[in-house]
Parts: sequence; C-alpha cells; structure tokens
Amino acid sequence: GKPVITVVGSINMDLVVAAAKRPEAGETILGEDFYTSPGGKGSNQAVAAARLGAEVHMIGRVGDDEFGSELLKFMEKENIFLNGVEPVPHSASGVAMITLADGDNSIIVYQGANKEATPDYIRKYESLIAKSDVVITQLEIPIESVEETARLCQKHQTKFILNPAPAADLSVDVLMKADFITPNQSERETLSKQVDFNQLLDKLIVTEGKDGVVYFENEAPRRISSHSVSTVDTTGAGDTFNGAFAYAIGMKKDVETACHFANAAAALSVQKLGAQAGMPTQDEVNEFLRNHGKK
Ligand code: RIB
Ligand code: NA
Repeated sequence: GKPVITVVGSINMDLVVAAAKRPEAGETILGEDFYTSPGGKGSNQAVAAARLGAEVHMIGRVGDDEFGSELLKFMEKENIFLNGVEPVPHSASGVAMITLADGDNSIIVYQGANKEATPDYIRKYESLIAKSDVVITQLEIPIESVEETARLCQKHQTKFILNPAPAADLSVDVLMKADFITPNQSERETLSKQVDFNQLLDKLIVTEGKDGVVYFENEAPRRISSHSVSTVDTTGAGDTFNGAFAYAIGMKKDVETACHFANAAAALSVQKLGAQAGMPTQDEVNEFLRNHGKK
C-alpha cells in the first residue's frame, strides 16, 4: 500500500532571479529572468513524496496573504493533505529570495509565518505523527518545534528523518532521536562541530551534489555516484532526494535501495526550472533506473 508520510516543515514562495553573476556588496546588476514558484524545504519534500505516490500530510503555516493562498492551492493540486496547515492571521508567508548564477543558487529565506509552526502547534497535530510511517523535518521552522517533533516520533514509534537544512545548532538529544540524518556537505561540517560523528554514522546519509550520496555500513562509507544529466536548476534537488528517501523508507526499503531510488529522483528533478517542477513520478524514477542502472 501507500506509505503515510507527514512533513513537519516550511512553506515558502520562491522569488527567483537568474543573472549572469552574483552582485558584489553595494553593486546593482540587471537580471535576465524572474519568476515566482512554490518552494520551502518542507513543502518541496512533501511534493516529492506525494508525486511518488505516498499519502502525504503537511504540518506547517502559511501567511494570510496572496502567496499563502497560492501556496495552499499548489499543494492541494499535488494531493497533499492540508488539515495541518493553518494560515497565520496578519502574517506574511515565508519567502525565499533566490539568485541563480554560475550554474548554482544562493538563497535567503525569510521565515515569516513558518515561525508560527511552534511546538504547541505541532502538538495539535500529534495524531498525524502517530499514524504516519515516516515523519520528516528540516530547519526552516523553530528548532524547538523540531525537538518536539522528534519527541512525538519517539513516543509513537514513528520513523523520524531529520534533514538538518539550513545548518543550525542542534542538541545531541534531537540528533540521537533521529533514525536518519540527511545533511549536505556544508551541513555535515556544522554537525561535526556539534557532536562526536561516530555516534551518528549508522543514521547518516550525506548528499554531495555532483559527488553523489554517502551512507555508512558498519562504519565504512559507501558512495553512490550521481547520474550525469543536463542540469537546468539544482534548487530543490536535496529536497527531492529527501522526499524520495522518506517514501522509500516508508515502503520498507533498505538504506542502499532507498539511496539509489532517491538519487535517481534527484537527478530527474534538476532537469527542470524551479524547485518542484522537475520532481518525478514513481514510473519516471523506475524508467530512469532501468535506463541508467544502479549507480
Ligand atoms: O531547498 C530549496 C528551498 O530552500 C527553496 O524552495 C527555498 O524556498 C528554500 O527554502
Ligand atoms: Na528543478
């Protein structure tokens, strides 16, 4: 059947400008393209898992502005259950200012309504966490809420995936409660300053962009290389990996199989502009794996 996945996390409108280069401090340059598209690490991961066929519930907040209602509509179209997404009165939705230049992105997130995804608010939707196969969170909501989510997952024996993005201070306690921790390389650096790494190896999945994915087996690193594809936009590639990984874990796949599956989903996602546009369906991932083999 369908795995039930709850995403506790952020919902943002992405405001994207493509430019020939990044401006220096104090410099003004002219951009080449502008668009808005739905984003936020939480929402992106929810869409990734939903397209693959999971039953996805979202716990998070939008503002009571135009962006908020658009974001709700986008998620509704993806068949994401939105009972856990209450608009915050008199608040702006979260936004991400994204610069695309030199084949990569830089992002500033203004949390806005995401800040109101408080521990009390998360507790209101405890029943969703209780009935889920997998819960996944990121760090664009208050850290105390991530800690509360970890506690609730432990209470209900729900598998808990922590995507520590963007990098932030985390307690050893919350890290130990996670079944899987999925940093990218720079987030991994931050983590290694917070905790003795050897304690985490069995739950660590490091996404390394062009260098693929690393997980550990009996403390030895195992690398899955990335697929060479024509990259249009890497925004949301990590989120696609995380959403697909959550889906595969919900399907009771082993870590290696889950990493291969998520790696393929991420490779497909970078071939379209925008965080969510390139996220594949189950059939698309399977076809890709047939054509490209396991990596
Ligand atoms: O991971 C990509 C996402 O980070 C973007 O969609 C943006 O909203 C920021 O949250
Ligand atoms: Na994309």
